[in-house]
Amino acid sequence: MADEQLHAQFLANKIVALGGEPTTRPAPVKAVKTNREMLEAVLEAEQQAVKNYTQRARDAEEFKDKGLTVQLEDMVRQESGHAEETERILRDWPM
Ligand SMILES: [Fe+2]
Repeated sequence: MADEQLHAQFLANKIVALGGEPTTRPAPVKAVKTNREMLEAVLEAEQQAVKNYTQRARDAEEFKDKGLTVQLEDMVRQESGHAEETERILRDWPM
């Protein structure tokens, strides 16, 4: 969660630097009934974040903003780590 907050802060600052106005519309949260379902939803969200930041990094590269590209690729690295950590927890279930 701390990483995600830093990502949001970085992106909001970047949007402002580029002359835009950041929005604060949160992504929908899936309703679940068990702890395992919650972790499965977390894994899905982490994998989606990897896909989204990968595409944004490509966009930034096309826009020729190397700093943004590197930052987005670092976000991909972090989100990949979160996904792998969640996969390990699910693989070892029940704890
Ligand atoms: Fe994450």
